[in-house]
Amino acid sequence: MSDDLIPPSPSAEAYGAEEDQGEVFTIHDPFALFAEWLAKAGETEPNDPNTMALATADKHNLPNVRMVLLKEVDACGLTFYTNVESAKGEEIAANPQAAACFHWKTIRRQVRFRGRVERVSDEEADAYFATRARNAQLGARASAQSRPMESREALEREIERLDRAYDGADVPRPDHWSGYRLTPIEIEFWVNRPFRLHDRLVYWRETPEADWQSERVYP
Ligand SMILES: Cc1cc2nc3c(=O)[nH]c(=O)nc-3n(C[C@H](O)[C@H](O)[C@H](O)COP(=O)(O)O)c2cc1C
Repeated sequence: MSDDLIPPSPSAEAYGAEEDQGEVFTIHDPFALFAEWLAKAGETEPNDPNTMALATADKHNLPNVRMVLLKEVDACGLTFYTNVESAKGEEIAANPQAAACFHWKTIRRQVRFRGRVERVSDEEADAYFATRARNAQLGARASAQSRPMESREALEREIERLDRAYDGADVPRPDHWSGYRLTPIEIEFWVNRPFRLHDRLVYWRETPEADWQSERVYP
């Protein structure tokens, strides 16, 4: 593959010419700081500022990564929803730890999280599932996410069948679809500053019950 596909580095004049955001670590609680950054990203990102790369590792410790949507964040952690029989679901079952990374190009910031992952309660998953569009509910029931699919038509036929089966009724959450919560023991904030002299602030705690500690690290 040609390296013509890689955009050229900025010229010496352009390099580091982006606006200096100055000091942005203005809040001392990491969840509150994350909430502030997510809200700021929401003002400028063209879509889905709540998208995060979710990294897991399989039973051979081979890493895997994919994007998922953050659906809730609070002091307990980050919640996302998926098929629990998918590749990620199997990986979390084998190794209930994950990392998540947000990158917002428009504000040139990144935040990453590491910690243990647990299933949310059935009640919590039911409540969220009930808020989804009916077509998304049918899709969640019909999709054997990450497993081989005979054809696109097979999936569409199954959705039509389920649509008829639940005609006039609520679509129940299938057992294979639920949420996971990543409870971080480490959160790192990164902000672009000129000439690659970026600012990084790392929060960590020994356990989810312990107090956060923090330190800056070199870019
Ligand atoms: C922007 C974006 C958001 C996504 N959000 C989700 C999500 O919230 N849940 C999900 O299961 N898949 C989501 N996906 C699809 C996943 O990236 C992935 O294809 C799917 O979950 C299967 O991953 P797995 O085979 O590693 O389990 C999203 C993809 C993109 C590009």
